[in-house]
Amino acid sequence: MCSKNTMLYVCLIAGLAMALAIAGPSLGQNSSTATEAPSGYDNQPNGLTDQATFSMDRGKFEETETIGEGLGPIFNAQSCRECHQNPVTGSGSQIKEFRAGHRDSTGRFVGATAFLADNTVTIPNRSLINQRAICPAVDTITVDGVQQTFNFPQTQGQERITTAENILALRLSLNTLGDGFIESVLDQALLNLASAQCANTGGAICGQAVKVPVLEANGTLAVGRFGWKDQHASLLSFSSDAYLNEMGISNRLAPNNVDLTRLCDVVPDPNDSEVDSEGLNDVDHLARFMRATKVPPRDTALATSADGVAGASLFHSVGCDICHVSSIITAPAGTAVAGGAVHVAPALGNTVFHPYSDFLLHNVGTGDGIVQTGGQETANKMRTPPLWGVRTRTELLHDGRSVTFFSAIQQHRGEAQPVTNNFNSLSTTQQNQLITFLRSL
Ligand code: HEC
Ligand code: HEC
Repeated sequence: MCSKNTMLYVCLIAGLAMALAIAGPSLGQNSSTATEAPSGYDNQPNGLTDQATFSMDRGKFEETETIGEGLGPIFNAQSCRECHQNPVTGSGSQIKEFRAGHRDSTGRFVGATAFLADNTVTIPNRSLINQRAICPAVDTITVDGVQQTFNFPQTQGQERITTAENILALRLSLNTLGDGFIESVLDQALLNLASAQCANTGGAICGQAVKVPVLEANGTLAVGRFGWKDQHASLLSFSSDAYLNEMGISNRLAPNNVDLTRLCDVVPDPNDSEVDSEGLNDVDHLARFMRATKVPPRDTALATSADGVAGASLFHSVGCDICHVSSIITAPAGTAVAGGAVHVAPALGNTVFHPYSDFLLHNVGTGDGIVQTGGQETANKMRTPPLWGVRTRTELLHDGRSVTFFSAIQQHRGEAQPVTNNFNSLSTTQQNQLITFLRSL
């Protein structure tokens, strides 16, 4: 197919994507000695922790938080598992979150202003809108082992926004299985991926790396790789952010509730203050759970079928893997990553994994207009989502706008247009083979 004129350009660059995947001995990675990351939807650890520790950490991820434990005042769900469970604890789900904002007179994105308590409380410049609140309600709760009354029958805790917020977006919950391997990739490996990708496509496909603060490293910047906008570089930072913003549980890295007036809040901040016998808070257990997870497994029957094998090769030759990079190698054990906050564990070091992502932001014509930790130019860019585990998704793309792989591919415009064109010039049989490959992931 490389002899066809339209294909030529991408044939050249697709060959390169494979070379990029093996990120290079200059960064300490050694593709000949790297081991394969363990995979499985089996609730077993990847070797970072033992089974008992893993199950205990998973218990924290599954725990249902209550008002007495600090839930809310505003929140999205009571447990990490509520949104990260399909098919096992830690994966993604169909649950979507709501973000909103607007552009100011100079065109800059500004997060929404939410109004609570009959407009007496405002939360400015926050794009995440929480969908639940603990009040109005009357209850008996237990705070630090002591029973007390929760008595807010007339307090309107729900966040509301106005029509001034005309950028509205939904985002699907992401998979976290295998995230320990992603965290263990050097910043420089992702930066090299971005520059090589851009140079080798003549500037057509140029993923953007964004530097984001690592909370546990006093805000030291590192290359973001987690979230639809690459908003975090470390799993402890993401755990802290999620504990606060999804569940309303303030913690040592995010010590105050989102609403500083503490509307109907009776539990002292930070809510996650208990230090256990290991010297850990809940956020540490949440991060350790995700670090210890195996990567999503392939459907081996489909992967090894004739169509699946042909599809993998087409995925490469049309150029999908320029962004959906098939193989990345983690830094050697002991290497400092995440702004120096994490030293790569022996179980995670020098390991090859297959995320089908470059962890970079791209404009493929689907962007949601929201700016988080990146600059204004990131408004309409999204992170290339890892395709591992994509067979568990019924709705595709960040907002679930596509229900089939074929339609998700057709949505790829912008930077991905030449690759979409290549896909469209395949025969129907070949297109179906490529889709069989996706169904094996
Ligand atoms: C209400 C649903 C919901 C709850 C509860 C929730 N999450 Fe998430 N999670 C999401 C969504 C949605 C995303 C994608 C966010 C984005 O980028 O906009 C996400 C993304 C993540 C990611 C990034 C994964 C990646 O590889 O990019 C991590 C890590 C994560 N969540 C951890 C947690 C932890 C830990 C908890 C519990 C403290 C939690 N989440 C609770 C919905 C949820
Ligand atoms: C320029 C980089 C780029 C190229 C090339 C590219 N993609 Fe993507 N892909 C993305 C981005 C970015 C998204 C997320 C867009 C969104 O959610 O708004 C995405 C999303 C997807 C999704 C949805 C995943 C999910 O979890 O919802 C699938 C499936 C997918 N791509 C398959 C492909 C296939 C197949 C090809 C080749 C025909 C391809 N992509 C080429 C960047 C790319």
